[in-house]
Amino acid sequence: MTARILLGIGGGIAAYKLAYLASRLVQQGHEVRVAMTAQALDFVGSVTFAGLTGRPVILSSTQIDADGSPPHIAAARWAQVYVVAPATADLLARLALGAAADPVALLALTCRCPLLVCPAMNDAMWLAPAVQQNVAALRQRGVELLGPVTGHLAEGYDAIGRMVEPEAIAARAVALAGAHR
Ligand SMILES: Cc1cc2nc3c(=O)[nH]c(=O)nc-3n(C[C@H](O)[C@H](O)[C@H](O)COP(=O)(O)O)c2cc1C
Repeated sequence: MTARILLGIGGGIAAYKLAYLASRLVQQGHEVRVAMTAQALDFVGSVTFAGLTGRPVILSSTQIDADGSPPHIAAARWAQVYVVAPATADLLARLALGAAADPVALLALTCRCPLLVCPAMNDAMWLAPAVQQNVAALRQRGVELLGPVTGHLAEGYDAIGRMVEPEAIAARAVALAGAHR
């Protein structure tokens, strides 16, 4: 089964792993389109994702594609699953709030497919009450969260906050897409 998978990339250090995830999904025969926040571009370039997926990356909430369609509507209709990873603390806050100024949060409002959110951040950030409140609000709304897990953090020690590995994200995304045809 091939799936149409939309990836929304946030501005965290784990963003580099999304290139591998996109590549794996494409190699498995899935169709992939990517949206990135402005901060995600500080961590990894959009050309990488355009090249890996063969589709233009969604970089702005006011983007119009070459065919004249706004991708926040067209890609949302197209997608069978929307994966947000790495979901940073700020991105989680925007998702919980229903913000729409950046393309990744905007797509969370326009997509009607399952939303799979994969948080990644420092352990202190993850355990902060404000972040936990946002996570609880998203869960209450039916959003599925995958991770974070305990493991090596970029700060150099083991703690909760590490993004789940790309293989696990790919497997869950494909399963959710299969249930939303
Ligand atoms: C090197 C570096 C790594 C970062 N990693 C993370 C991270 O893993 N998770 C997180 O929530 N914020 C992280 N931040 C802070 C975010 O980049 C910052 O909050 C940013 O505004 C988030 O962008 P977004 O809301 O578009 O995801 C990091 C900052 C730096 C400088």
